[in-house]
Parts: sequence; structure tokens; C-alpha cells
Amino acid sequence: MTETCPAHATVHHWAVEPLDALRFDPLLHRLLREEPIARVRMRFGEGDAWLATRYEDVKTITSDQRFSRALTVGRPVTSMTPHTVAPVGGIGRTDHPDHTRLRRLVAHAFNRRRACALRILAQEATDRMVAAMAAQGPPAELTEALTGPLPEQVIGHLLGVPAGDFGRLQGWRAVILSSDASPARSSAVKAEIAGYFRNLADHRALDPGDDLFSELVSAQREGALSRPELISLSVMTVLNALDQVRNQTSTMVYALLTHPEQLALLRAEPALLPRAVEELLRFIPQRNGVGLPRIATEDVVIGDTLIRAGEAVYVSYLAANRDPDVFTDPDRLDLTRDEAPHLAFGHGAHYCLGAALTRMQSEVVLSTLLRELPELRLAVGPDQVRWRRHTVNRGPETLPVAW
Ligand code: HEM
Repeated sequence: MTETCPAHATVHHWAVEPLDALRFDPLLHRLLREEPIARVRMRFGEGDAWLATRYEDVKTITSDQRFSRALTVGRPVTSMTPHTVAPVGGIGRTDHPDHTRLRRLVAHAFNRRRACALRILAQEATDRMVAAMAAQGPPAELTEALTGPLPEQVIGHLLGVPAGDFGRLQGWRAVILSSDASPARSSAVKAEIAGYFRNLADHRALDPGDDLFSELVSAQREGALSRPELISLSVMTVLNALDQVRNQTSTMVYALLTHPEQLALLRAEPALLPRAVEELLRFIPQRNGVGLPRIATEDVVIGDTLIRAGEAVYVSYLAANRDPDVFTDPDRLDLTRDEAPHLAFGHGAHYCLGAALTRMQSEVVLSTLLRELPELRLAVGPDQVRWRRHTVNRGPETLPVAW
């Protein structure tokens, strides 16, 4: 549905319906081609907001400090969820210099070197899980056998979260990253998970381990970050790690198994794997709707659109990744593609902290499955796979495979 408003041309009412498998949001597809800076209104919040879909515009907006995250706090900007996923004081809702300070505290833990060290642990865990699948024989449910538990082990090791606590954390994740939990339910669950990390922080203060969380607890005691910052940083990191890596690696497997000619290319040339992972990241629509908005701190012209001070702006990294001005035949999965870098992990100051960890786990999962289970296939028809609904991030509910 569209309507005309006096101040701006047209407002698109974006219901953000749940989409299955690899289906791309039809509104994003259309706006990218016809109205690259558009006005949208989603189901919750107030008023409407700008939505930028073109690759170059998305890069410009996300690297320009005149678009603020801190100013979103306390503003009911139109949104796809009735609650705000990112916590106040969280890294996603701060600007420089607070944002830079928080990133510095954790960036070293998430860099390529750390991901390389964690690769050994991830590879051993994956080998064990795939061997267990093989020993038990087909079929298997991949999210239960591998892509769910792997990120738990990796982030558990990095942050020092005890393995036995993941059941509870997964329950909280499901509510906080749901797209229809009520604000009251989401706040209650956020309070519970914050309580969990406060408790863990008290334990680590007395008995520090060799993990990122212990490091952050000691940084907090030295005054480098506040207690609410410590808690929200830990919550965001754990929730993202559990949700996104599971969804992404499972969907990568689904995408390869449903594009046999691409899978054959990768089997024939395993060295293609890092490039294949980048193309899968570009191609897979990882989420529903859009993430956190930004607020213009002054009038800014983007393309030929004037964005006024105080107005809210969303960018769609998904749409930018399908921009036909940047990617040839953008809706085609092409593992040999060597064009511009994708924007799946965002861009600019808020670029995803977990990018190296995600790439590493994707490479480990895909290379191990290709090597150990060369006959891997879906155990049900591609249309029978059930997909998560009413969630922020997309991914299969279950992924039955055989070999
Ligand atoms: C396929 C997997 C993932 C995708 C597609 C993804 C994507 C993104 C995107 C688009 C952003 C926001 C960029 C922006 O706001 O401009 C982001 C930020 C972030 N991601 Fe990820 N992410 C993934 C995995 C992870 C993992 C595994 C972790 C943690 C271990 C993580 C932690 C974070 C954090 C903490 C931020 C906020 C950074 C900041 O505001 O400075 N992400 N991610």
C-alpha cells in the first residue's frame, strides 16, 4: 500500500512479511530500481523514515558522522518490531567518542588473529560433530547436529560462558530477536539476561579466567567502561553469535544444495571457498526488514534527496548487495564473482564486530561437510524446509540432510 504525504512524495507501508528460503523482499527489489531513497512506514513506532537501498548511498550514509545512532535513544522511530532489539547504552546506539572507546575494548578479541586461534577449536568441534553424524548415519538435522552447537562452543570459549548455560541463553535469544514479542515481554527478558551477566561478572571479578568477559570485567573495574555498557556489550555479542552464525551457515548449506551447478564448481575447486563464502554472504538475505535507524544531525543531501536535520534514516545492506550498478546480474548466485565487496556485515564505524568469526566458522563448516560428506543433499524437497518466522534474522527452523 502507498499513500501520498505533503512533505515528501510517497510513503510505502512496509509490512515486512516473513519470507522463506532465499526469497528476496519484493519492496526492496522495487525501491532499489525505482526509488533508491524512499519514505517508508513499518508496523510499529511513529511516523515514517527514509530508506536508502543503493550501494553507494548506503556506504555514504553509514560512513558519515552526521547520521547519529545515539539520537535514536528515546525516539519511537517507525520500526518492524514492537520492542527495540538493541539496548540503550549498547554499542549499536552510541556515537564517537563513546562508540570508539567501546569498540577498542573488544576489537582485538574479534580480529583475524583471534579468529585464526579459534579456528583450531572450531575445526576440532566440527570434526567431532560431523563424525558423530556419519557414525549415526543419515538422515540428520543439521542445525541440531552442527550449525546450532558450533557457535555456542566458539562464543562460549571466547567469552567464557559455561556450556550448561546455553539452554537459558537460547530461550532469551528467541524472545529478544523475535519480531513480535511485546515490549513488556522483551523488557522482562532483557532484565533476566542482564541479571545473568551481572552475576557472571561478579564471579569473574573474584575468579578471572583467560576469556574476553574476564578482560571486560577488569576493564570495567579500571573505569574504561560502565557496568551497563559491559552488560549490554556481552548480551549483544552472545545473542548475535548464537543467532547469526547458526542461521548463516545453515542457509549457506541450503543455498549450495539448491544450486547444484555452483556446488559442483566448489567441489571441483576447493580453493574457491573464501570467495564462495563472500558471494554467499552477498546473496543470502540474512534478515527481515532493516536494522537500527540513524538520525540526521543536520540537513544532508544524498543523491538528489534532502534529508533534514532530525529525520530518521534506514539503510538496507541487503538491497545494496543486489545493486545492479555494482553487481552484474545481482540476483544470481555466482561463486566465481569477483566484483565489489559486499555489505552484509554493514559498513563504517558500526561494521559488524563478528565478521571474522563468522567467515571463519562458515569456511570450517562448508569445507568439512564437502570433504567428509561428499554426497550431502537435502533429505526433504527444497520447498519442505521450514523457515523461522516472526524473527529479525532469517534462517531455517530445521535443515534435514542426508548423504
Ligand atoms: C552472518 C553473520 C552476521 C551478519 C550478517 C552480521 C551483520 C551485522 C550488521 C549488518 C551490523 C550492523 C552494521 C550497522 O549497524 O551499520 C552488525 C553489527 C554488529 N555485529 Fe554482526 N553480523 C553477523 C555476525 C555477528 C557475530 C557472530 C557477532 C558476535 C560475535 C556479531 C556482533 C555484532 C555487533 C556487536 C555489532 C554492533 C557493532 C557496533 O555497533 O559497533 N555479529 N552485524
